[in-house]
Amino acid sequence: MSAEPLLSVRDLAVSFEGEDGRVVAVKGMSFDVPPQRAVAMVGESGSGKSVTAHALLGLLPSPPAHIDGGEVRFGGVDLLKLPERKLRPYRGGKIGLVFQDPTAALNPVYSVGAQLSEAIRLHLPLGRRAVRERALGLLHRVGFPEPEARFGDYPHELSGGMCQRAMIAIALAADAELLVADEPTSALDMLAAAQIVALLADLRRERGLSLLFISHDLGLVAAVADDVVVVYAGEVVERGPARALLGHAQHPYTQALLASVPPLRRERRRRNQPVRRLPVLAGAPPLLTRGDAGCRFAPRCREVVARCREAAPPLYPVGPLEVRCFLREQPRRAALLPEVAP
Ligand SMILES: Nc1ncnc2c1ncn2[C@@H]1O[C@H](COP(=O)(O)OP(=O)(O)OP(=O)(O)O)[C@@H](O)[C@H]1O
Ligand SMILES: [Mg+2]
Repeated sequence: MSAEPLLSVRDLAVSFEGEDGRVVAVKGMSFDVPPQRAVAMVGESGSGKSVTAHALLGLLPSPPAHIDGGEVRFGGVDLLKLPERKLRPYRGGKIGLVFQDPTAALNPVYSVGAQLSEAIRLHLPLGRRAVRERALGLLHRVGFPEPEARFGDYPHELSGGMCQRAMIAIALAADAELLVADEPTSALDMLAAAQIVALLADLRRERGLSLLFISHDLGLVAAVADDVVVVYAGEVVERGPARALLGHAQHPYTQALLASVPPLRRERRRRNQPVRRLPVLAGAPPLLTRGDAGCRFAPRCREVVARCREAAPPLYPVGPLEVRCFLREQPRRAALLPEVAP
């Protein structure tokens, strides 16, 4: 991972004004998306995944949202410092967006073809005919078998899966370099979800796209991601290559997440295992306040020790992974070497 990251998020902090004061949703969020890699972000509900995705492109409603600090560098430019006008070529242009519920993201009063054409016109200086040709080409590419015939269809005339394909076409309207997909399959049935994931994987290979893939579904994550970032209470607790992280997770939170995934039925049958109750991680992530001391996961951690409540752990390297846990701190090599007599 020596290449300069395409997207680099550093110390992002976001809070929301509420009736009872300020709620911190994201604090100290840092991760990279290298060129042409797929990075999955996982974590339970309320951990700050969508807030992070929306913050990248200035899509949070302000008020109540407030960006308290940090950097979001894309190709070296800090997007958080750009005025609205200069952010537009990125939003839906260099960075394509695919959100959870395609029927809500599409405008019900315009046809799919019209919305796609509008997205193309917004970002590319093309004439009418070229816009239509590009729109038809994109619809075809994302799996509309007869794009000419479906160009004038309205969102309500399409299945959820086809709406999500249309959203992906819109995200690609202007040759995006990065796709941000926030739970792109959670509103779809299993088959449509698998098809959308396969489409994203194909497009990525074909176009050399980078992907930030936010998902609850660790099965999909394993199928899509090169790298995984695990977030808890608004910060990264573990990250690294997908195979190492999903196979040998080090953080007690990641271990609990993985333990709550039911093994595939086929796999269970093969191993002749009975259906067992899955362990459930009790409790909920903490509400963050400014003066928090200690590890944010300590109240729910089964390995907690006194130190965890006193100071906040940094990320420690553990093999190919980085893990925010004191218990995984490895002795520094130098400390293990015998002292050399003078
Ligand atoms: N519009 C809002 N107003 C106030 N607080 C909000 C708002 N949106 C998000 N939050 C706060 O930010 C936290 C993180 O929310 P976010 O939507 O990022 O979670 P998430 O990780 O995407 O969860 P999910 O998996 O359910 O989509 C929430 O717990 C909530 O406290
Ligand atoms: Mg979300």
